[in-house]
Order: sequence, then C-alpha cells, then structure tokens
Amino acid sequence: MPHPLPRSLEISPSGPLTGSVTVPGDKSISHRSLMLSALAVGESRIEGLLEGEDVLATAAAMRAMGTDIERGADGVWLVNGVGVGGLLQPGEALDMGNSGTSTRLLMGLVSSHPITATFIGDASLSKRPMGRVIEPLSRMGADITASPGGRLPLMVRGLCPAVPIEYTLPVASAQVKSAILLAGLNTPGITRVIEPVATRDHSERMLRGFGAELSVEVTNRGRIISLTGEAELKPQSIVVPGDPSSAAFLVVAASIVPGSDVLVANVGLNPTRAGLFEVLRMMGADITEENPRIVGGEPVADLRVRHAALRAVDVPHHLAPSMIDEYPVLFVAAAFAEGRTVARGAHELRVKESDRIVAMAEALGACGVQTEEFEDGLAIQGSGGEPIAGGATIASKLDHRIAMSMVVAGLAAKTALVIDDVSPIATSYPNFLETLDALRR
Ligand code: S3P
Repeated sequence: MPHPLPRSLEISPSGPLTGSVTVPGDKSISHRSLMLSALAVGESRIEGLLEGEDVLATAAAMRAMGTDIERGADGVWLVNGVGVGGLLQPGEALDMGNSGTSTRLLMGLVSSHPITATFIGDASLSKRPMGRVIEPLSRMGADITASPGGRLPLMVRGLCPAVPIEYTLPVASAQVKSAILLAGLNTPGITRVIEPVATRDHSERMLRGFGAELSVEVTNRGRIISLTGEAELKPQSIVVPGDPSSAAFLVVAASIVPGSDVLVANVGLNPTRAGLFEVLRMMGADITEENPRIVGGEPVADLRVRHAALRAVDVPHHLAPSMIDEYPVLFVAAAFAEGRTVARGAHELRVKESDRIVAMAEALGACGVQTEEFEDGLAIQGSGGEPIAGGATIASKLDHRIAMSMVVAGLAAKTALVIDDVSPIATSYPNFLETLDALRR
C-alpha cells in the first residue's frame, strides 16, 4: 500500500530517470467496472482496479445502493451485482469527494431507478457544472434539484420507467454520454446519444462486453450510439489496463530530464485516449511501443521513453478530446521545448478539477516560464531544453493533475520548488511519488 501523501512537498532537481515501472489501473475503466458489475446479476471479478480515492467513492456509493463489493487478499475485487433496476435507496448522502466521473455517471444510474439520492462533494467538485447532465437526465424524467448554478449538493429523484431520449451532446464529454447510456440501461426502448466529436469510448466497449444491446454508427452527424433497454447484464471477469493519463506524467518526466531512459509498462492505448503521445512525438519525443497486446478488450503496450530535445508545435484541435486530461503535463513538456507551443480548442480545461488554464499559467509563470492565456487554451514559451527557474511555491488547487504536472516540472528546474498540497494525487495515482522515487534512484 502507498504511504499516505503529505500536504506540501519540496521537489528538487533530478538526475536521469532510469528503470522500469508499471502504472495503476485506468480510472475511467475502473469506475465503469464497478458500476456495470453492480448492475449484473451474479459475481464479477475485477483485476487491476485503480484503488484511488475517486474510484473508492464510486465503490462506496454502489455499496450504499445495495451492491456487495469486496477486495480479496490477492487484490482482486469481487462484486455481487443487484441487476439493472435493482439499486436500492441509499440511507445517506453519496459523498463523491473530488470525483466528477463518479458524480455524473451515478446521477445517470439513479435517474432511471425508483430511488432518490443526494450527491455531495469537496470544494472543487462543488464548483463544477452539472447542468450538462441535469438537462438530458431531466428529459428522461428524473427530478433533479441542484444548488445554484446547477452544482452540488444536488438531489436526484429517479423515474421508473424513465423515458428514452435521442440526445446530441452539446459538449464533447464522455461523462455526459455515459450518464445518458447508464440511465438508458433501465429505460424501456432505445436511448440514443449522438456525439459530433468522438470522446473516450470505454462505456460503449464495456456495455457490449457485459451483454447489452448497443450499436455505434459513424455518420456525418457524428457517432450515433443506440442502447436498447431494459438491458440484462451478465457478470464478467475484467482486467483493467494501466491508465494512459497516469503514464503521461512519467512519459513527460523522462522526456524532459536529460539522460533518462524509462520503461512505463502496461499503458492503455485506446485511440480515444492516446492524443498526448501523438503530440509528444510531433514534438520530437523518443517514445517506442513494446510488447503491444490486448488487455480487457483495450490495446495496451509498454512505452520506452528516452530523453529528447523537444520542439514547439501547434497542438491540433481535433486531438483535444483524446488528451483532455493531459494538457497540464503537455504544458510542462512545452515549457522545455524549443519555441512557442500553442494549445487551443480546449475550453473544457476551464471546468476540470480546477480551471487548468489559469492553474497552469500561474504555476509555470511562478517558475519563470512565459505563457499567454486564451479563453480556450495556453501558449507556452519553451526554454529550448534548459532548466526552468523553479524556486516558487505552487498552488495545486485541489487538482491532482496540477500537482503531478508540477512535480514533473520540478524535476527539471534550476531551483527546488514547493507544491502547497500534493494530497489530491491520491484521487487517481496514490503511489505516484514512490514510482518517481524508484526512477530517480
Ligand atoms: C472521463 C471523461 C472526461 C475526463 C475525466 C474522465 C470519463 O471528462 O476528463 O477525467 O471517465 O468519462 P469529460 O466527460 O468532462 O470530458
């Protein structure tokens, strides 16, 4: 088990990173594994589940709604599902902690069950917009009372049977898509989601894997996903691949620290998630894929990353959905590139665990990096491979990815930097600091 994370942490400049490490289970797939297993009748096994705070919040909520979930001594999780339609009224408010995915997906599940649930969360989550799921779920019949601005705390009163809808996503969001599909599981008829821009497709892959009738059609209106309810899900044995969004920090760290040569094993490379690796290669990063294989229905490989001189790029807008969680660490890579990197078309960064455009502009600025803020992104003036100044105290703003990105930046700064609070790292990558230490030795 990883050690509990400290609050503030000083990061000192690092020598070459070397060695081989694995990354923990994919967060998106871990949430969905618990939820879908809970809706299958019988016992599912989940190997490689991410044991981060966000996923544990999902597990606690599913337990509170009647599912039996246990972690075996071997680290395999066993879930005894209640079946689609079988969720029970939770006895108290569901505490979602920092987790937007838990909140939005579970709001979908509750919406088509005859139960009422109250959702609460931490200061970061309580600022995030829930209107994007409230709107379609209300159309399906759920009665949702939110705090001002469509925020947490909020209460969802489900309707059973709910009404199937056809809904075109106004924002590229896999969470919104998944909330509607999960609500559709217990809704008679066909629930249809149209996504003009493709987002991560784990829900579609896994729903099919659990036996739901789901089709995907690629048209000039976008991807049309049709799910037939009321579905019957069959228990599964799942292996969760490693999280590319967690691997991203190690890949950028090895790319910017001179002399590094690192193998990051077990990285999920679903094309709807792998945009960062494509952009890093455009920048001249030295990343090779070894031992490509399929794990749990997803493409996986080990990534060998060696330090390389990076060049600035204009980040292609169309890659934004496939690297939306990786912009903070991409900005760090850009801070070490030759020239000015421009990353726009990523307005969604404003409504993540923090406003990641502001958070990274401030954090890199405090370390001596020049940035220019746009409504939908950031431009970063790179150092051409020289160490950045560092020497600052950085606010992580209850955002795990800001904390980890700035830990990475600190490895290649001239002077040690301090991060005010690294405890949010436990939401998605509890042993991140230990893994990094292993590579520094
Ligand atoms: C996620 C979708 C993305 C991503 C988040 C996980 C998911 O959010 O940022 O970390 O598991 O569906 P959006 O749907 O808001 O883009």
